[in-house]
Parts: sequence; C-alpha cells; structure tokens
Amino acid sequence: ILAMPLYGQDIKVLYDEAELPQFTLPDPLIAKDGTKITTAEAWEKVRRPELLELFETEVYGKAPAPLPISSRLLEEREVFGGKGTLRRVQLFLTGKEDGPQAELLLYLPKSDKPVPVVAALNFKGNHTLSDDPAIPLANAWVRNNAEDGVKNHKASEESRGAAKSRWPIERILDRGYGLATVYYGDIDPDFDDDFQNGIHGAFQKEGEAKPAADEWGSIAGWAFGLSRIADFLQQQDAIDHDRLIVMGHSRLGKTSLWAGATDPRFALVISNNSGCGGAALSRRRFGESVRRINTSFPHWFCDNFLKYNDNEDACPVDQHELIALIAPRPVLICSAEDDRWADPHGEFLSGLYADPVYRLLGTDGLAVDEMPPLDKLIDSRIGYRIRPGKHDVTPSDWEAYLDFADKQLGGK
Ligand code: GCU
Repeated sequence: ILAMPLYGQDIKVLYDEAELPQFTLPDPLIAKDGTKITTAEAWEKVRRPELLELFETEVYGKAPAPLPISSRLLEEREVFGGKGTLRRVQLFLTGKEDGPQAELLLYLPKSDKPVPVVAALNFKGNHTLSDDPAIPLANAWVRNNAEDGVKNHKASEESRGAAKSRWPIERILDRGYGLATVYYGDIDPDFDDDFQNGIHGAFQKEGEAKPAADEWGSIAGWAFGLSRIADFLQQQDAIDHDRLIVMGHSRLGKTSLWAGATDPRFALVISNNSGCGGAALSRRRFGESVRRINTSFPHWFCDNFLKYNDNEDACPVDQHELIALIAPRPVLICSAEDDRWADPHGEFLSGLYADPVYRLLGTDGLAVDEMPPLDKLIDSRIGYRIRPGKHDVTPSDWEAYLDFADKQLGGK
C-alpha cells in the first residue's frame, strides 16, 4: 500500500503560463438547460442544487445520509495558565460506541459569551499539536515519517509536538476564538484500501465491495467528518453556533472547501494551499493536474473523476464553481508564493470567477481583479491572500484567518 506514491512522475508538469492550454470555463450562472440565472432565487432553487449534484457525482462523490452522533467527555481542564479550557471528547461518528470514532480536542478561551470556533482536521495526530504530555498518541494509522520517528504507521512519543508551528493555539484563544480539531486518520486513514476501513467501511452497503463511481472518496469522507464535528459543536452552549469556521491545509484545504460547500452551518470557510481539486482551476493544468492527482491519490475523489484525466474540459464543473457553492458566506483562499504545485494564480482565479455569484447574492464578491502583492489580505466576502514561502501553515497565516473572521463575522 502506497501512502505517498512515487508513480505518476512521468506526467509532464506545466509551470509556465505560456504553456497552459486554452480553455473556456463553465459559467456558474448558466443552468444546464441554457437558462441564464439572474436572481438569487433562481441561484438557490435551480443552479446551486445542479452544481452541488455535479460536484457530488463527478468530483468528490456522494456521502451517505448521516446518523445522529453521540459523544463522551474524556477530560476537561484549564490550559495556558487559565486563559482557556481544553475538553477532550470521544466522538462516535455514527452514534455507536463500537462504530467509527474520533478524539476531538476542543480548546475554548475563557469567555462569558459563546465564542466563535475554528474546526480543522489535523494531519499527524492530536498529540502533534502541542507538547502537552496528557494528550494520547493517535491510535489510527499515521503516515510513516522518519523525522517524527513514525514507523509501521504507529504514532510514537517522538512525534509529540511535531506540528506545533502550524497550531498557535494560545494565540487563537487570545484572539477570542476556539479551536476544534480531530486527526483526519481517525475519520478515514489516508491510503488506498478500497475503503474498507474508516468512515466508509461503516457505511458500506450490503453486497457492495466498494463505493460506486459516484460515491464518496476520502475527501468527501473527511468532509463528512467535519460535518459531524459541526453536529457536536452545535450542541455546545459555550460556542456561538452562527460563527463556526472551517479551515484546512492542502488536501485538508480541498476538504474544508467541500465541507463548506455541502454544509451551510460553516459560516466561514478557509482553504490554505489547497491546489488541485481545491481552489485551483483544473482546466489550467498548472502544477498538479487532474491526471497526476488521480494517479498519486486514487482514493481522494470519486471514480467518475478519473474520466477527466487529461480531459479537464469535459468536466461539467471547474473549481470556481466550488467557491460559488459557498456563496454568500465568506470564503478565504490562501496561497503561498513557492507552492507552485498548488497553482497560486489558479487559486486566485477561482475566487475571481466565483465573484459574479457572490455579487448576484448581494455581497461585495472579490474586491480585486488582479493578484494582490505578497502578504496583503484582501478581506472582501471572497478573501484572498498570498504570502512568501512554501507549502505550509504559519503563524502569520493564522493572523490573516482571524483578521478575516473578525471582519466578516465580527459583531454578529
Ligand atoms: C500532495 C498532493 C497535493 C496535496 C498535498 C498535501 O502534494 O499532490 O494535492 O494538497 O500533497 O495534502 O499535502
């Protein structure tokens, strides 16, 4: 089983705007039958459902109807010298204690009012977010990583705190936000096993060996998990239910966009360096292409998406329409200058081409029509930022996320 497959490397990667194919993007405001969408009502009733269904059947795959979750509080204590509390919660994703489950860390700032919360999956396990020795090591499959001392897909003490630069938890609390995080492997281990384990296995239909071509891949599985986290957060009095934010980086940035598109309880959506299958336009084929991603990560999308390998123009949707599915809710697209694999310009263009939908719905859309200078946060309803540096999540990224959230959700 290959977690980080090396095959697919013979596929030519385009890194030059002059080499990109000519293409025409599908118009988010023209319905399948050719009708022009000119009112908010027609968007909500006709076009949005059409687009959602196209993304479900052709790109990410349809997820099953959820079951009511249940949860058990494992531990609650003060953290950061009393600035906040940490609750560790076991989340039963199908409501059953013997079904798929995930450990949730919920950090909340001390507050006499309900607080906004950022929900985000993490890559390496809850124990990697900080040096806190009381957080149990991830139990599920983890990616092998010599640097963190992870062998045989088992988390070890050596990896404690390994991801802390990406999670400035104390600062998030200082800014008045909570953080709810789960290890993504608790929801679906990230390797191609024909969906026997994780959340997919729990919903497998009788007589079906694996999900059908239009049924959920791993990204849709992780997004399903984010929605179950939202179920839990909506049950908590200490949380402002109208200010749930979903954030994700890279493959989990693709996931946060899909979670935001499918679950309107996420009032604000943030994608960081999400690239191909996330915010980047597929038709550009800049950096990672559809063929390349389907070759390296055959389990991320639904099998129907394979039809668009080297055939992006045939896909009835492109990723600007994923952004449009979030409208009129605020969305922040974040890129990194050196992360050319994720096509920063293509990530920006998705925001730009979603703008007509946001404007139809009465918002200010994306306030610029060219990429802004480095580090300048564009904080219109479609937000955009590119910072110097590589594919990563940095403390300055978090400042931008929370500045954007203050602006877009503040005072609600
Ligand atoms: C690979 C993959 C990207 C993905 C990234 C990540 O680079 O090609 O699509 O975003 O992994 O999730 O870290």
